[in-house]
Amino acid sequence: MKILLLGSGAREHAIAQKIAESKKISKLIVSPGNVGISQIAECVNISSDNEAIKQYIIENNVDMLVVGNEQPLADGIADCLFEDERTRNLMVIGPKQKGAALESSKDFAKDFMIRHNIPTARYKSFGKDELNQAIDFLKTLSAPYVLKADGLAAGKGVVISETLEQAEEELKEMLANAKFGKASEKVVIEEFLKGIECSVFVLTDGKHYCVLPEAKDYKRIGEGDTGLNTGGMGSVSPVNFASKEFLEKVENKIIKPTIEGLQKDAIEYKGFIFIGLMNVEGEPYVIEYNVRMGDPETESVFPRIESDIVEAFELVAKGRLNEYELKVTEKVCTTVFLVSKGYPEDYQKGKVMTGFERVVDCNLFHAGTKAGEGSQILTSGGRVIAISCFGSTMQEALGKCYENIEKIDFEGKTFRRDIGKDLMNLEA
Ligand code: AMP
Ligand code: GLY
Repeated sequence: MKILLLGSGAREHAIAQKIAESKKISKLIVSPGNVGISQIAECVNISSDNEAIKQYIIENNVDMLVVGNEQPLADGIADCLFEDERTRNLMVIGPKQKGAALESSKDFAKDFMIRHNIPTARYKSFGKDELNQAIDFLKTLSAPYVLKADGLAAGKGVVISETLEQAEEELKEMLANAKFGKASEKVVIEEFLKGIECSVFVLTDGKHYCVLPEAKDYKRIGEGDTGLNTGGMGSVSPVNFASKEFLEKVENKIIKPTIEGLQKDAIEYKGFIFIGLMNVEGEPYVIEYNVRMGDPETESVFPRIESDIVEAFELVAKGRLNEYELKVTEKVCTTVFLVSKGYPEDYQKGKVMTGFERVVDCNLFHAGTKAGEGSQILTSGGRVIAISCFGSTMQEALGKCYENIEKIDFEGKTFRRDIGKDLMNLEA
């Protein structure tokens, strides 16, 4: 089978690695991919335009498309392929636009949750012309205030304000001054949920589903979860507070109603559903849906999958995912990201990276790297590379990550030393 994977980050590197291990694959092509992915797959540069992707698929006899990131799904790549009889039967892992709205419109996602009785924070949405009503609603809530741009805003669309004044100011920026462009023409204001977060991943054919290992990500740049939000500084899987009992609640109160809700709303859905959860005193609440895997969670989740992922994808396409037997290692996998100094604000690129040959017993998933002269690898982004290791305990896995981090070097190398630390405190 010939597979095309779309994306260029460490998440796609981890997905590509799992696909490349499959017995069912004859060729893996990744667009645009990156220097790490090019070691295990052919990287090509297809324009992000739906028609260009479709043309490539036709000309190259691709059998399956796996979409790593949300943008092509929000742009309707799955619809475009379905509407053309030449690609109608292509296997596509990723929903059509209607399903992708679970991520591309927070208002749609909240409405979906309420309609299907899925636990989530109380909320109201407001359009550009409703600033005064929005401010009145804010006044009925208590601090901190959670404001969310309705549309896709590159992970930056959620703002949490500590005071009413800040929240009002932020609301004006979003609604009246288009802080996030079109994405903030509508804003969701919701109740703040106090608890600890966890990411749950589901693969579904729209009827049957398979729950993948859960994970926790670390979003802030600074240790102790301080400072600016990033694309993710690390992750761990499994998550110790996600007990069997908690995960059963997640399945019964969230996953089942979500899949049934999609069916009731006549939304055909084949792909991943990433459920961002808050554990509030043992009860799960949905913070957000995403229609793809998480980054950097995938870098800890995918290495744990032992069964053939391409077989799962094939069964998704055929609507027979119930026949899949997911096998997951009990080992813990942890990921620590190396980032450029200054990230997520200004940072320098083009720094020479050394020490790759010295790492042991670990996966290196590339994100912001590029080929330099000869065999040299240079930094080319804020999040540079993910170091992912196994252990029989989280401590052991993290120990290996940090040992390997010592071996890789580049000017300005920055990382968090406290990945997983909050969970160790929980265990104590
Ligand atoms: P999102 O972009 O939807 O992932 O939201 C970014 C982050 O904001 C989440 O990971 C949470 O840490 C936080 N967040 C979002 N909604 C809430 C909420 N209702 N209560 C508390 N924290 C939230
Ligand atoms: N780790 C959060 C995300 O992928 O959106």
